[in-house]
Amino acid sequence: MCRPEFFGVTYKINPWMDPSKGASAATAVRQWEALKSAYQSLGHKVSEIDPIDGLPDMVFAANGGLVVDGRMYGARFAFPERAAEGPAYLEWFEQRGYPVREAAFINEGEGDFLTLDEVILAGTGFRTDMAAHLEAQEFLGRPVITLRLVDPRFYHLDTALFALGDGNVSYYPGAFSDDSLRVLRRLFPDAVIAGEADALVLGLNAVSDGKNIVINAEATGLRDTLTRHGYQVVPVDLTELRKAGGGPKCCTLEIRL
Ligand code: ARG
Repeated sequence: MCRPEFFGVTYKINPWMDPSKGASAATAVRQWEALKSAYQSLGHKVSEIDPIDGLPDMVFAANGGLVVDGRMYGARFAFPERAAEGPAYLEWFEQRGYPVREAAFINEGEGDFLTLDEVILAGTGFRTDMAAHLEAQEFLGRPVITLRLVDPRFYHLDTALFALGDGNVSYYPGAFSDDSLRVLRRLFPDAVIAGEADALVLGLNAVSDGKNIVINAEATGLRDTLTRHGYQVVPVDLTELRKAGGGPKCCTLEIRL
């Protein structure tokens, strides 16, 4: 995770961002601390990367790379405003001895790559280049399945879908092309389908450990559905970070060993 000390909305690279309204770093830090505490209370270990002044979106650690089997596939950002984050995250892993791969193709890490037990689901359409899907597949030795995103409000795969554990997922159908929806239905006949209201509060930007699901508090419909499915729902308030288009998952880069 990366403490949002230098957070703000100073440019616009997705429909959620409005630089004329701005955002408060102090509020973001307070909400982010609560997210970090939620993970720690669930028994998860949290490591931190130092935030860098001038990189207001660096709090969205998910975009910093993709780590599977202890190997780190580095991010290469689509917009120049975030370009410097790629090397910063890569260096963090390199210095700690992880085998790293500098990406040749545009990809925004776990924003567009979601790892399940057998496969990695990968989004394209707004940020991550399809060529990066193959690059990640070959570096990580895991099959990667491409999914096309079509709604600019759900510009990263992790804004529209999350892994529940046990090989199942939850997603918002409206974010995907019709053909990608056919793929999702075939792969996940028992998926937990979310409605637009929950998607619009970034309810799909959730983090599941297979039992507990950390999720934006306002996603009330999805929270109820997940509870009915037997999950322990852990609501968090990340309204300030949502002004930049991010939620709990965006703030979290999972280190899979
Ligand atoms: N403002 C950031 C961007 O548009 C938000 C990134 C959110 N991260 C995520 N994993 N969806 O790049």
